[in-house]
Amino acid sequence: MQLSLAQQVALVTGASSGIGTAAAKALAAAGAAVVINYHSQAEPAEELARQINDEGGRAIAIGADVSKEKDVERLFAQTLDAFGYLDILVANSGMQKDAATVDMTLDDWNQVIGVNLTGQFLCARAALRIFNRQGIRQGVSRAAGKIIHMSSVHQRIPWAGHVNYAASKGGVDMLMQTLAQEVSHQRIRVNGIAPGAIRTEINRSETAGDAERELLKLIPYGRVGDVADIANAVVFLASDASDYIVGTTLFIDGGMSLYPEFRGNG
Ligand code: BGC
Repeated sequence: MQLSLAQQVALVTGASSGIGTAAAKALAAAGAAVVINYHSQAEPAEELARQINDEGGRAIAIGADVSKEKDVERLFAQTLDAFGYLDILVANSGMQKDAATVDMTLDDWNQVIGVNLTGQFLCARAALRIFNRQGIRQGVSRAAGKIIHMSSVHQRIPWAGHVNYAASKGGVDMLMQTLAQEVSHQRIRVNGIAPGAIRTEINRSETAGDAERELLKLIPYGRVGDVADIANAVVFLASDASDYIVGTTLFIDGGMSLYPEFRGNG
C-alpha cells in the first residue's frame, strides 16, 4: 500500500518534540507540505522545517499557544498564507501537570484542560471552517478534510495523580466523536489516536531503568512504543487508505488498554 499525501497541506500542533515531530516528518515524507506548530521551543521547530525543506519537502514553523483563541486564528491564517490550503489537522499539543488531586492547583487544572482539550476544540473549529470553504479538492483527496485528535489510553484508563490529564483526554474522546457525528456528511473525517507509553520527553522518568521494568508489566506486547508507531498511523488516518474510517479511536498501546493485570486470572 503506497500512501501519498502529495499536494496536501498538514498542520501539526505541538510539533517541536516527541510524537508531533515524528508525525510532521512522516507527513512530509508522504508528500504533504507541513506546518510545524510550536509553543515555546522555536529552535527545534525551525530546525525541523529546515531539514524537511533541505530534503526537498515543504515546511514552515509557526509559534502559537493552542489554548489561546487569537493565537489559533493567527496560526491557521498563516498556514493559508504560506500554502494556500489546509487538508489535514493533527491536533497533537498536550501536556501533563501531575499531582494528587488534593494538592492540585486550579492553575494546573486549567492549564492542562486549556491545552489538551480547549486547544483541540479551537484548532478543530478553525480547521472545519477552512474545510467548509474549500470543499473536496478533486484529485487531491476523497475527503474534504481530515482531523486527527491525539488522545491517550487515559481517555479510557483512569489515572490516579493525573486527574487533569485523564479528564482532558476523556473529553478529547467525546469531542472527537461528536465532531465526527456532526461533520461527516460534509465528507470531513474526524478520528483519534490513543497512544500508550511512547518513549518521549513527557514520560522520560517512567521509561528508563527500574521504572521501565515496572511499566512493562502493563504492556502485554513487551516493549515501550516508539514515536514512529504513532507517526505511521497518523499518515494512514490522513490518507485515502482510511477513507471509510470515521469517528474511531485507534489505540496504539501494545495492549496496555486490555487490563493486563487480569492476565493471571484476576
Ligand atoms: C502519557 C504518558 C504515559 C502513557 C501511559 C500517556 O498519555 O502522556 O506519560 O506514560 O500515557 O500511561
